[in-house]
Amino acid sequence: MVTKAVIPSAGLGTRFLPATKAQPKEMLPIIDTPVIQYVVQEAVDSGIEDILIITGKGKRALEDHFDRNFELEEHLKLRNESEGLEEICRLANMADIHFIRQKEFLGLGDAIRYARHHTGEEPFAVLLGDTIFDSGVPVTRQLIEEFENHQQSILAVEEVPPEKYSRYGMVGGRRVSDKILEVEQLVEKPGIDESPSSLAAAGRYILTPGIFEAIEMTQPGKNNEIQLTDALRELLNRENILAFTIEGRRFDIGDKLDYLKANIDFALRRDEFAEPLLEFLRGIPDAGGGEE
Ligand code: G1P
Repeated sequence: MVTKAVIPSAGLGTRFLPATKAQPKEMLPIIDTPVIQYVVQEAVDSGIEDILIITGKGKRALEDHFDRNFELEEHLKLRNESEGLEEICRLANMADIHFIRQKEFLGLGDAIRYARHHTGEEPFAVLLGDTIFDSGVPVTRQLIEEFENHQQSILAVEEVPPEKYSRYGMVGGRRVSDKILEVEQLVEKPGIDESPSSLAAAGRYILTPGIFEAIEMTQPGKNNEIQLTDALRELLNRENILAFTIEGRRFDIGDKLDYLKANIDFALRRDEFAEPLLEFLRGIPDAGGGEE
């Protein structure tokens, strides 16, 4: 049973400067909701209510976001703003959320190391705090269902074009079914010619506790960081790992274009914005719909 989730959110967000100079990238809003809230909601919608968020320097806003704010609650009560009040109270009770700080920025693999005492001998889900999905079944739920069938570490993958190989952990292996691969190769951010396939790690994992030993044995890799991808390769020496092609569209919020797309996509699915936003987009000269 997977009952715990770990959300690494310690990264510096350098791809999104200057917006992330003084605020965490995980607090960037998609319309009115910070990215981290979508990620926590995905864990909750997947049946997980025990969540450990791994933060770091400059990430205090993440803790405040999931805490009570009595002053704001009183203010909203006095002004009879019940919708806002309900939402901020719901937020503080969404899940059992714990925080731990990564002391030094040594990479994603090192950040996961901090979860060891919290997750103990149980398998756990990892949801990267800067990735969200538009999917019918929550992506973490899809992975949990596969994990329950196989009881092996499993990572979400998606097809990416060659120019993006150098942005992701790339995965190769033996195809077991339409959607499942038995992992044989893992390379963090390879060049086009070095990638084992066009399948990229998509920011969601279910990991067995064996990952912690593997992390301890992992040397700094790409960008001189302890990479989760390298630790998974280490784990492969002892355990099988599966890759699962998820159903859903992924938005990498650390990427400015993906961030813009996510805002438009999510807005188009909200009644209050869909029509006026489409009208606006169609009216932009050269936007492809202006001459209708
Ligand atoms: C991290 C992982 C990478 C994975 C990616 C997904 O990279 O190291 O393997 O494919 O997340 O978003 P980062 O985005 O932190 O550079």
